[in-house]
Amino acid sequence: MKPIGVAIVGCGGITLQNHLPGLALCPETHVVALCDNDAATLERARQQTGLKVTSTRYEEIVTREDVHAVIIATPNVTHGPVALAAIAAGKHVMCEKPLAMSRAEAQSMAEAAERAGVRHMTAFTYRFVPAMRYLDHLVKRGDLGQPYHYRSCRLQDWGSRSLGWRQVKKMAGSGELGDMLSHRIDFAHLLLGPMRKLVAQTRQFIEDRQGNRSDLEDWVAILAEFESGATGVLESSKLASGRNESWRSLDYVEINGSERSFVFTTGEWNKLQTGPAGGPGMETITIPQEFWRWPGSPRDPQQGDPLVTFRYDQAWEFIDAIRNQRECRPSFHDGARAQAVMESAHRSAELQAWVKL
Ligand SMILES: NC(=O)c1ccc[n+]([C@@H]2O[C@H](COP(=O)([O-])OP(=O)(O)OC[C@H]3O[C@@H](n4cnc5c(N)ncnc54)[C@H](O)[C@@H]3O)[C@@H](O)[C@H]2O)c1
Repeated sequence: MKPIGVAIVGCGGITLQNHLPGLALCPETHVVALCDNDAATLERARQQTGLKVTSTRYEEIVTREDVHAVIIATPNVTHGPVALAAIAAGKHVMCEKPLAMSRAEAQSMAEAAERAGVRHMTAFTYRFVPAMRYLDHLVKRGDLGQPYHYRSCRLQDWGSRSLGWRQVKKMAGSGELGDMLSHRIDFAHLLLGPMRKLVAQTRQFIEDRQGNRSDLEDWVAILAEFESGATGVLESSKLASGRNESWRSLDYVEINGSERSFVFTTGEWNKLQTGPAGGPGMETITIPQEFWRWPGSPRDPQQGDPLVTFRYDQAWEFIDAIRNQRECRPSFHDGARAQAVMESAHRSAELQAWVKL
């Protein structure tokens, strides 16, 4: 097996939580270079990993010969420029969500990656929850019947604390919409296919976060119609007081079809609720063990906190797609499709009107 050299651009929270431990599980895969434009963060990551090759300039890192693949984990505004530089140097790229700042930028990233013949992946991490993978399998098998409704609800309590670059439009592009709802837009696409039209509303309640101005929404809701005719209702908030945060807070998806309904929550990684049409109500089913990790992943699902470790399969998917020269799931095309919905949601909220996709 030929070794794969990976460079990581952006050494903040998600790199330490997901990317480094995920890559460490992939055989013959070596992080060979790190980049962060903040010297102190870069030094912390250098000490933690023991890596010698570091730079504050991504241009120096993505062009190196020993780098075959690049992971981009920087604020959203830099995703496009870093990805295009890495693709131009012939590197495979996994980029954090939301993929870009606009639909046009996301599409140009997907087109550039296709033209260059490199693997491209969007880090929609929650697709890797075993229960979501099993739900996708059941829906594709036809268990839902005709799809009627998609419903998702992401409720967190972030209060008025500082969100750093996430609260600044020119760095993040959008607030709750790109930060949290983008994952649930991707779930909707995965389970029910493309949307046809939508109407959306956004709302900013907190304008000052610990002394710094925020110019982005804290809440978003979308009412959608899918090309299949199914309906969608999606809501996401940072201000659901008392709901806690991350995987200790509500991340709910329900789909209803002519045959039955399913309920997924991230917190219940190995369970789904389901009930047949006309039946007595919902029952809980356990996810079969073969779905507890991504196909081929070397991760032992019995090791560690399962609400954390499913995320490591994302790195496996990227590396396995590179080795087998196949499309990554989810790809830049999935990232661009979610970006189109996000852009339409912002336009709808501005126009106060339905928008076609
Ligand atoms: N997939 C997920 O579940 C998930 C979870 C959290 C964050 N994210 C995404 O990951 C990305 C990073 O988020 P985070 O929480 O790690 O943020 P963070 O602020 O903790 O880390 C970002 C890092 O990028 C560095 N940086 C900024 N500009 C740079 C540049 N031009 N070149 C090199 N480094 C640069 C910063 O110094 C910082 O260390 C965002 O796009 C975010 O939406 C995804």
